[in-house]
Amino acid sequence: MGEMFNNPFTPNFGQVPQIIAGRDQIIMELDEVFDGALGSPARTTILIGARGSGKTAMLSYFAQRCRQKGWISVSASCIAGIQEDILQQAAMAADHFTEPEHSRRLTGVSLGQFLGISWENVSGFTPNWRTRMTALLDVLAEQDIGLFLTIDEIDPHLEEMIQIASVYQLLVRENRKVALLMAGLPSEVSGLLNDRSVSFLRRASQHHLGRIADHEVTQAFRHTIESAGKQIEADALADATKAIDGFPYMLQLVGFRSWQGAGESAELKREHVRTGIEMAQKDFENRVLLATMTSLSRGDKTFLRAMLPDAGRSSVSDIEQRLDKSSGYVSRYRGRLIESGVIEQDGRGWVRFALPGLQSYLKKTEE
Ligand SMILES: Nc1ncnc2c1ncn2[C@@H]1O[C@H](COP(=O)(O)OP(=O)(O)OP(=O)(O)O)[C@@H](O)[C@H]1O
Ligand SMILES: [Mg+2]
Repeated sequence: MGEMFNNPFTPNFGQVPQIIAGRDQIIMELDEVFDGALGSPARTTILIGARGSGKTAMLSYFAQRCRQKGWISVSASCIAGIQEDILQQAAMAADHFTEPEHSRRLTGVSLGQFLGISWENVSGFTPNWRTRMTALLDVLAEQDIGLFLTIDEIDPHLEEMIQIASVYQLLVRENRKVALLMAGLPSEVSGLLNDRSVSFLRRASQHHLGRIADHEVTQAFRHTIESAGKQIEADALADATKAIDGFPYMLQLVGFRSWQGAGESAELKREHVRTGIEMAQKDFENRVLLATMTSLSRGDKTFLRAMLPDAGRSSVSDIEQRLDKSSGYVSRYRGRLIESGVIEQDGRGWVRFALPGLQSYLKKTEE
């Protein structure tokens, strides 16, 4: 019996969820680009978000989605060798491209052409990245196929990233059918945007992958369960929504664990969800909170501890008093912590924890 109901939740990093909660705005904007609105600012988009906010999942989602609309996609991570990786992946994707409905085909494209092998022999010069990308885009253009590039884990210190961005800008200027979607942690993205050689990126469309509204969480949670053949009690759904607190990774963890807890039962009940939440919170501590805390400095942590007495949000002037530090000092740490996605602004002069369970985790580990 059990195998009739497969757990539909996806608590793994980068996994595209069965049902995407929220994010309608981004999906709408990028769809416009794939449907041909190359003038749209969304053609160059940056997703900014803390750990587990859904950056990689969104990149994968769009990489899949664009293929239904006559684009090929290339997904790369910001590590050394990325330029060659992009080129090889793009050449391979082009080589396999077929779209029978629109009778567009590109089979049998010679890979060597883009990988520079044939060129070197003929002309004695080694084509650079831009030349090879251009050659590839020429072939795609014959069939009006677009190239959609996703770059994850933005790293402003990688020289290749700067080169890619500059070449991309030229390709856009030449009216080529290319689009670029990047994702990174707040601090890495702002590092890239501050690099003067790629200042045009500041005009890219930027989306902060923040909390997802409760009603959207509720809806996605219920649909995920129902699409896999089970039901959930109304009270249980309300409890789950509260524990998830708008955080995508928590949605998947709470869902996965509650589903497990329900066993053979066709309905997720309150007690299933209660144990599910407990287990999910432990998972979250181990996989997100611990990693986040070890990346923080002593000063960062002292700042966070000064927020502990407050329920909900903390006033920055209270923090100044508790720390007995200057407003300059406090605002520097405040900035750092916002950049790393640990806290967020909540109205002028107020901050709050941006990761679910972080406050109670800090309290627990204080002793
Ligand atoms: N909109 C969404 N609705 C529901 N679940 C989502 C959504 N976005 C992401 N998820 C789920 O949340 C989890 C975390 O997503 P993802 O790995 O993309 O985060 P990330 O921002 O890339 O994290 P990191 O910075 O650690 O790489 C995954 O299990 C994914 O399936
Ligand atoms: Mg990721």
